[in-house]
Amino acid sequence: MPVLVAGTNGVMALKVTKITGFPICYSQIDRYPDGEKYFRFACDVSGEDVIIFNSMHPNPDEILFETILIAETAYESGAESVSCVFPYFAYARNAESVRGEATPIHAIVKMLKNAGIKRICTVDFHLQKNVFGIEHTDISGMEKLAEYCLEEFSDSFTVIAPDEKAVYWAKKFAEKSDSEVIALRKIRIDAENVIIDPVKLVLGGDVVIVDDIVSTGGTVCQAARIAKKAGCRRVFAACTHAILAGDAMMRILESGIEGVVATDTILSPVSHVSVAETIAAALNF
Ligand code: R5P
Repeated sequence: MPVLVAGTNGVMALKVTKITGFPICYSQIDRYPDGEKYFRFACDVSGEDVIIFNSMHPNPDEILFETILIAETAYESGAESVSCVFPYFAYARNAESVRGEATPIHAIVKMLKNAGIKRICTVDFHLQKNVFGIEHTDISGMEKLAEYCLEEFSDSFTVIAPDEKAVYWAKKFAEKSDSEVIALRKIRIDAENVIIDPVKLVLGGDVVIVDDIVSTGGTVCQAARIAKKAGCRRVFAACTHAILAGDAMMRILESGIEGVVATDTILSPVSHVSVAETIAAALNF
């Protein structure tokens, strides 16, 4: 039976423990006065399959380093294998670069492989494919988000994908709600500003904007304005990872979006849906 190491999303690790019965291996992570990290296992992991739970938000660089440190320590302590659950995997949005620009995901993949990590589990991974070169299971929160929207927001709605990449998630979501999917086209100006093509749309009923990530809220807010202009009745938003950077929540409320729901991959005030069961089912050790 594997042992779980609760990292930055310890709540998720505990939820998964409750479902699977897999034990938690308590550990200590600290910082020395000079900023360096200290880590130790508080249990014996020799011969064990260790699963590290680390959601890469906030401070993804630090969390990545902690993951490597835990994995290395596990092997040094005689662990049989190390796997990682990254409920939210950062750095997947900058996977293409022009000459001279960094593509951090390439470096991250090398680091995880070098640390001997055998399996990775993610949730609605932005790149929508395995880039790790090791076993990778990507589970989705879309079905559960759709169930929540049907119960709490509206019993019938149109699903809007605010950009081309989001069509993939919007379709998964719409399968559950049996809704029509409308895809918009987005141009990103900078980290906080986007332009969405002002397509000609006519909408009558409710709308749910579906995306994998809500960070600054720029994307959902623009999409909401288009939906409102097209005559929709009420607008809601659903996403897997609620980063909600800065004043994102304020922007969202000001845009007229009446309800937002996210999963618990990142704990936020709108994380009303849990993907713990789906993660537990994917950990078929
Ligand atoms: C990017 O392609 C993602 O799927 C999201 O659309 C994006 O991360 C949302 O960011 P923001 O909330 O800052 O517009």
